[in-house]
Amino acid sequence: MKIVCCFGAGPAETGPWVTELAAAMPVAQVSADALDADYAVVWRAPQAFFDRQTRLKAIFAAGAGVDALLAMRLPAGVPVIRLEDAGMGEQMAEYVVHAVLHHVRRFDAYAVLQAGRTWRPLPPQRKADWPVGILGLGVLGRAVAQALRALGFPVSGWTRTPRGEPGVHAGEAGLAPFLANTRILVDMLPLTPQTHDLIDARVFAQLKTPAYFINVARGDHVVEADLLAALDTGVLAGATLDVCRNEPARPDHPFWSHPNIVLTPHVAAMTLRHESVAQIVQKIEALERGAAVDGVVRPERGY
Ligand code: NAP
Ligand code: GLV
Repeated sequence: MKIVCCFGAGPAETGPWVTELAAAMPVAQVSADALDADYAVVWRAPQAFFDRQTRLKAIFAAGAGVDALLAMRLPAGVPVIRLEDAGMGEQMAEYVVHAVLHHVRRFDAYAVLQAGRTWRPLPPQRKADWPVGILGLGVLGRAVAQALRALGFPVSGWTRTPRGEPGVHAGEAGLAPFLANTRILVDMLPLTPQTHDLIDARVFAQLKTPAYFINVARGDHVVEADLLAALDTGVLAGATLDVCRNEPARPDHPFWSHPNIVLTPHVAAMTLRHESVAQIVQKIEALERGAAVDGVVRPERGY
């Protein structure tokens, strides 16, 4: 069996995946250049890579979101399988908990006071007054929901498919009641035609105010001018953004210098090679036995 790895960042990133997959799966021939591979492991691979592969049985994405991969011309009928958690759930929970506490425990306000050498305790805040709403309650959204609930925050979620669980709203009809009960909005959706530009002035206006916005998903979900306007008018008290529409953000992007924005360079949950290789190997072995695997992307729904 042949496995080919291709990471758009180049040989320095592809090489360690080849080495680690080969060590974890001695029966396979793993390389960066096979043209007749059975399985491909990719992240931001160029179109020419897919055009050359003629006998793939499956394409493994080395990430959770597959929007960029689905935008390529992929070999017809070949399933795309994405990472499910693989160590990202814990990282997402840490990142979002940090952002929520940073605002609710007023570390942002105390940073301003410290800059002015002002020793002024601010009134305590009740978690009950900071309901968190998570857009997208999938593998990673559920890990974040669990961590926030464990800290005592009221948490609700929004999904595409109705679940019949308390606090989980679904579909277009479920968005308004979900937003009306949310003060901290956390974006954990995949990027699909339905979620592109979803988060705009209309969405911010429906939140309990002053609200707080955390985006750990994709920048293309957000109408950035509307986000900046919501901050300027006080609808939003602040935002923590791990992503933006055009990455990397240009030096003159307003997010860099906005006093109420925390910006990080798409690092909320990074792909962990060891955990990912273990998951991919387990799935290849299952496929070779003819067994079904989880994490198969449904192209018609975009995730
Ligand atoms: P997932 O398991 O596929 O979950 C996606 C969730 O979004 C599901 O609950 C799904 O609803 C919901 N959803 C999708 N389309 C929707 C729509 N139109 N309306 C309402 N809900 C919708 O994905 P995941 O593994 O949790 O990952 C989520 C996203 O996180 C990825 O796609 C990626 O964009 C982002 N991510 C970012 C980073 C980072 O470092 N910033 C790292 C990893 C992932 P159903 O439950 O009904 O299917
Ligand atoms: C990173 O953004 C991912 O989707 O894994």
